[in-house]
This record gives sequence, C-alpha cells and structure tokens, in this order.
Amino acid sequence: MNDFTGLVAAVTGGGAGIGLATAELLSERGARVAVLDLDTTSAPDYLAGITCDVTDRASVGRAVQDVASAFGGLDVLVNNAGISAVGTVEENGDEEWARVLDVNVTGMARVSAAALPLLRASAHAVIVNVASIAALNGLPQRALYSASKGAVLALTYAMATDHVGEGIRVNCVSPGTVHTGFVDRMLQKFPVPEQEKAALDARQATGRMVAPSEVAAAVAYLASPLSGSTTGTALDVDGGVTHL
Ligand code: NAI
Repeated sequence: MNDFTGLVAAVTGGGAGIGLATAELLSERGARVAVLDLDTTSAPDYLAGITCDVTDRASVGRAVQDVASAFGGLDVLVNNAGISAVGTVEENGDEEWARVLDVNVTGMARVSAAALPLLRASAHAVIVNVASIAALNGLPQRALYSASKGAVLALTYAMATDHVGEGIRVNCVSPGTVHTGFVDRMLQKFPVPEQEKAALDARQATGRMVAPSEVAAAVAYLASPLSGSTTGTALDVDGGVTHL
C-alpha cells in the first residue's frame, strides 16, 4: 500500500527543498520520478531532471511530454513549485502580485491541465498540491503569500470535485515553517536574520521548524493507496502551530 513500484511521479519544484525530499522519498519507495524545475542541477542522477518553468505554458507542455516519452505515462503529480513573498499590501506592488500568483497558483493549474490527459490513463491517478498554513493563520508580513496559498486550498477542493468522477484524487499538504532554502532566503530580507530564525523556531508548538522529509512523508501518504478514500482535503504538517 505504501509501495510506488511501477508508478511514475512528477514533482514540480523538485530541484530543492520539500520537492527534492519528496522526489527522493517516492523514488526510494519504487516510483520512477521526474523532477520538473527551473534548475535541476541539485537533483541526483536517479531522478529524471526536466527543465520546466511553471509560468510558461509551452515549457510545461514540453516537460509533461518529456515525462510521457521517458516513462510512458504519469500516475502521481506533485504540484510543489512555489515562491515566497514578504510584505504587507502596501509593500508588494502589482508586478510582485502577478509574479507570485503566476508561480504559486496559475502554475499549479497549468501543470495540472497538461498532466490530466496522462493521469486519466492511469489506474492510480493522484495529484498532491503544496499549500501552506499561511492560508489558515493571519501571519504578519505575508499578505500576498497567504493569499496565494489560500487560492491553492480552494483550487485543491475545486479540482477534487471536478475529477473525482474520473478516479483522480486531489489533496494538498499545508506545511508550517519548513527549514529549506526558501526560508533561508526569506530570512535574509529581515534586518536581523538570526533573530527572525529564532522567532520561527519558537513559533512552532514543537519548538523547531518542520523538516522537509516530514512534509515528503505526508505527500507520499496522500499519493499512496493508503489514502484511497481521501480526496479534497488538506493535511497540516505544521508543528502544531495552527491548532495548539
Ligand atoms: P525552495 O525554494 O527550497 O524550492 C522551490 C523549488 O521550486 C526550487 O527548486 C525552485 O527552482 C523551484 N521553482 C521556483 N519557481 C519555479 C518555476 N517558475 N517553475 C519551476 N520550478 C520553480 O522552496 P521549498 O521551501 O521547498 O517550498 C516548496 C513549496 O512548499 C512551495 O510551494 C512553498 O510555498 C511551500 N511551502 C514552503 C514552506 C517553507 O517553510 N519552506 C512552508 C509552507 C509551504
């Protein structure tokens, strides 16, 4: 039930952080895995690195076609590519809003649309989106980012409804603060990054940020037959920050 042998997975943003940890775990469990990323240089050789920009429809089309050519199909799509944004509505301009929504929301729809014909041909078709608990909690200085992840939650529920009749399950994981390059880059935007890191650790009920491997394990659960009756849900992996 937890074995992906014989299945093909594609992970967007799989070149680093949560996506890379997820790609590695699915591969460890027997899947053939393609990593769709702007930069695939950090992905190990046993993952198929496919250059892809989720904001570019032609690039997405080519990447999905490459997955089909290399592996003959697709069973598991993990929509993980995402970028951060720090600021209030007064601080982020129109260009930044357009850019972040394009990557975090429209990119997810673009990749899903390109992948659906392949998923329909699979007997084990699942999509797992990566949202964030920023969609649930009013975090300071994250207006744009939170709005983008709220849209990911809504998109997940809508897609689950649209495709349940085709045998395709759609769920999302909502990570809390996960210690990846994404967080390190965001920390550098604060006057005293070390102080902000200590605040992030302290904000988790568990006292530490979430590990990428812990999010990967949740994605793998939602991608596996173990969660066969689960669709249109969000699984929080947040160190207890939302409900405790
Ligand atoms: P990361 O920055 O470490 O990795 C993101 C990957 O996405 C990079 O390899 C990057 O090249 C790729 N990427 C960015 N733009 C892309 C594009 N246009 N097309 C294709 N690939 C692109 O980020 P991390 O932390 O692993 O985040 C992954 C996902 O998890 C994102 O959706 C993020 O919003 C979400 N998330 C992260 C949290 C965290 O605390 N790190 C918390 C909650 C959610």
